[in-house]
Amino acid sequence: MREQTLLTREWVAAKQTFLDWDTQPSSFKQYPHFCYRVSLKEHPSLQWLVQTRCITDEHSIAHKPYRRLNVPSAGNLHPIEIYVQIRNIAGLLSGIYHYDVLNEELVMIREIAGEGIEPHVGLDKRFSGVIVMISLVPFRSSWKYGARAWRYLYLDLGHQIDALAASVRHFGLYLTKMSHTEHLNTLMGMGEDERIAAVYAIGEVSERAVKPISTPLMHVQPTDYTEYLNTLIEPLKTTPSYNEIPNTLMYEDFVLLNRSRRSAREFNPHTMNDAILQQLISIPAPSSLEIIVFVFQAHSMQIGTYRNGKCAVSGNFNSEIVHLLLDQRFISGSNMVVLIHAEHFCAQTHIEAGIYAQELYRMCEHHNATCSGIGAFYDEEASCYSDKPLLYAVAIGGKV
Ligand SMILES: Cc1cc2nc3c(=O)[nH]c(=O)nc-3n(C[C@H](O)[C@H](O)[C@H](O)COP(=O)(O)O)c2cc1C
Repeated sequence: MREQTLLTREWVAAKQTFLDWDTQPSSFKQYPHFCYRVSLKEHPSLQWLVQTRCITDEHSIAHKPYRRLNVPSAGNLHPIEIYVQIRNIAGLLSGIYHYDVLNEELVMIREIAGEGIEPHVGLDKRFSGVIVMISLVPFRSSWKYGARAWRYLYLDLGHQIDALAASVRHFGLYLTKMSHTEHLNTLMGMGEDERIAAVYAIGEVSERAVKPISTPLMHVQPTDYTEYLNTLIEPLKTTPSYNEIPNTLMYEDFVLLNRSRRSAREFNPHTMNDAILQQLISIPAPSSLEIIVFVFQAHSMQIGTYRNGKCAVSGNFNSEIVHLLLDQRFISGSNMVVLIHAEHFCAQTHIEAGIYAQELYRMCEHHNATCSGIGAFYDEEASCYSDKPLLYAVAIGGKV
């Protein structure tokens, strides 16, 4: 998918056109009004789900609501939905629900008893607890980014998986990894415009037998309208689901960090201290990734390129890196930029880049610093820093 999704100078020049925000597809899936709904405010035992994905800022732009979430997303387009199967949880009817993030509600799509999705996630007994399914809605992102959206889908997914893992861990629970069959998409009522990309579970397998749900759930479009981009839809169908569990760092103030996190739009490099830069450089990255850090501004730390936590080349590469990142001017005020490369250009490494970046976001927020994921860069120009393709970058600096 690398070649189909490259950003070149020619592509960027041709894309400098007016984007009509009135045609943006809806960012939140809505099930019909007659479905039974449960407010999550009344279920403290599901607070981990609320903190996994929630609206953390809302204002209005051009008379339309503009909502931002606990997780960042390329272009704030949020091509993700979450579903849960709930069984044997006090106060809740066992069933398959859509998580309506806009209203912090669970919307029941099907009540369950002896049937369930278990046989489609590799279980032959009923699962007591919650099975979480995360789906991708490609058109929300391809509407703006075309084929390059393929990368953003999986980077966004990585951010979301890390947010889930951190939230579950914060609330003292454990994630179990699951794989799923292709048929689960059909059973969940999904068409070409939505695909399940990761499944996890929280709870335990019981002794009771379970039958597969026999008829698909109702089909509801995830957006108010869809345009199919075959170069994007086809590869999604053959991408295996991701089921690794991120090794998240723990923070006592997790809920506060989760709700206050924002992507940087400007930096004040003077409010950042070297100890925090060092800690950020030391966050362990998944072994599939190669991390190269460019420190531009610090008090006494060496300015230069860091590999494996050590300064490998001295010098200030600020203008080269800002240029690489599509000349996004605000990045020039950052203290450092992390480039995330990987040998394999695939969905899995993009997800892992997103997971790692979400850890950077959380640590920045904890130390009152700020950062922004950067998915826009000239691919070919990154080859002077590594022979492995560049997947993602994160600009980090002091808060203004
Ligand atoms: C995969 C990905 C790519 C992004 N790329 C850029 C980028 O190139 N430039 C930028 O300024 N912000 C970028 N962002 C940040 C988003 O613009 C930001 O997350 C979104 O506007 C929502 O704002 P919030 O993170 O404060 O909630 C990116 C975020 C993600 C997750």
